[in-house]
Amino acid sequence: ATTYQLDWKIQYTDVTRLCHTKSLVSVNGQFPGPTVYVREGDTVVVNVTNLVSYNVTIHWHGVRQLMSAWADGPAYITQCPIQTGNSYVHRFQVTGQRGTLFWHAHISWLRATLYGAFIIQPKQSVNYPFSTPTTDFPIVLGEWWNANVEDVIAAALASGAGYNISDALTINGQPGDLYTCSQGATTTFNVTQGKTYLLRVINAAVNFQLYFGVAGHNLTVVEADAEYTKPYNTPYIVLAPGQTTNVLLTANQTMGQYYMAASVFSPAPTGPVPFPQTATTAILNYVNSTSNASSNTNGTALGALPTFPAYNDVQAVGTFFQALRSQSYSKGYYYMDVPQVVDEDLFFTVGYSLQPCPAGSQCQGPLGQRISASINNVSFVEPSISLLQAYYNQINNVYQADFPNEPLIEFDYTGTYAGGFQTVLGTRVKVLEFNETVQIVFQDTSLLFFESHPIHLHGQNFYVVGSGLGSYNASSDPLSFNLNDPPSRNTVSVPSGGWAAVRFRTTNPGVWYMHCHIDLHNHGVCPWRSL
Ligand code: C2O
Repeated sequence: ATTYQLDWKIQYTDVTRLCHTKSLVSVNGQFPGPTVYVREGDTVVVNVTNLVSYNVTIHWHGVRQLMSAWADGPAYITQCPIQTGNSYVHRFQVTGQRGTLFWHAHISWLRATLYGAFIIQPKQSVNYPFSTPTTDFPIVLGEWWNANVEDVIAAALASGAGYNISDALTINGQPGDLYTCSQGATTTFNVTQGKTYLLRVINAAVNFQLYFGVAGHNLTVVEADAEYTKPYNTPYIVLAPGQTTNVLLTANQTMGQYYMAASVFSPAPTGPVPFPQTATTAILNYVNSTSNASSNTNGTALGALPTFPAYNDVQAVGTFFQALRSQSYSKGYYYMDVPQVVDEDLFFTVGYSLQPCPAGSQCQGPLGQRISASINNVSFVEPSISLLQAYYNQINNVYQADFPNEPLIEFDYTGTYAGGFQTVLGTRVKVLEFNETVQIVFQDTSLLFFESHPIHLHGQNFYVVGSGLGSYNASSDPLSFNLNDPPSRNTVSVPSGGWAAVRFRTTNPGVWYMHCHIDLHNHGVCPWRSL
């Protein structure tokens, strides 16, 4: 096994997109940030030095961090932020997983520009469970704001007037042909007819779930969230923010160029969440092609975009996610069996509550209140020092170990209900014993409106054993759980107006953040607030 020594300077760099130039926060001047390739079993040492005026941390999303919780990176959870001029050294071994993950900043909204692929290849002499592709392409989906992203949030917090949606979706940092001023720079992937390629697709977008596909080509899903899946053929895939999916693509079409594209899946029905309407594109280019359309310099479409379901098609997306199955021979994540018996049975509502509008703000919620994302009606408040340090050094009054196992108030979760509950603010922590089996059912609620929440767990994957629409039924729904070959993931997309059930065994001591990976629901933005 190799030890990789990386020296990362967090620094400003000028980047131009959509004819707007801005100084953004980058790693070593690169946007998107560097791609990290390692092998299972390798050790990674990253010296992160902060040369910008914002506090920064870097998180290794989906990397298990077995016995290295202090290297995980979420600000105020496992470490204090790195202040200007200071450094932090992450040292961790990549064990028991292989596949596509990513890294991103984990404080405020800095991950909008600070992100990159983190790819774990199988050990040297170990093959993929599918025929070896010709090569692989990291495909990192993101969002671009013409404005400074920290200004976007600061303005939202100050005025309580919501936030500005991004100006573009991006593939590897480029909006693509359909956006203004972008045609010449569209990302191109060269393929040879008859060969097979591994596309490593990462949703690093800040706020949106995305469809992804390639015109004229089918995709075969072979891995999700760094766990192999049974091969699944599909014309498109869906990724929530935080999810990664590997697909095989065989260049089996006639010569020429084909669009790959990503566009928004947004199941909030009545539009409290506006989104970028234009798809981001890249080009799949058959090399030695005699019939190059080569039209991407004048903005003419190369041809058809891949076909996706409607932007709000909850059924189609549910069907896609439920079709993913783990490779049974691999016994899933870190060879952990699917828990058949549950020690801790938790029921978490995910959705919106209300809290009083801060003085001087104008909040958009009902009765002029601030809308607040919450789990079991508790909205997380960031502590002033990290929870891991507080635990390790036994500092009292930083958090309360009393996170509720079920909602504080019971109601008809998916009934017609337009009012909100007042949220409970607090730094409340759920304490689990080592090596116990846990089930969590996440239930989206109708308080204010439905929305699909991608819930992400740090420190280990969970198995997604079931999901459905409507209110979860604790006596009948478990009868149809998949306890045989459920997908192992680090992020589950809880259906809009529905529920998802996950199971895992607590195999990794530490303090682990669990949160919605839509940053609006995570990082203190008025009128939205922490989940
Ligand atoms: Cu992708 Cu808490 O992180």
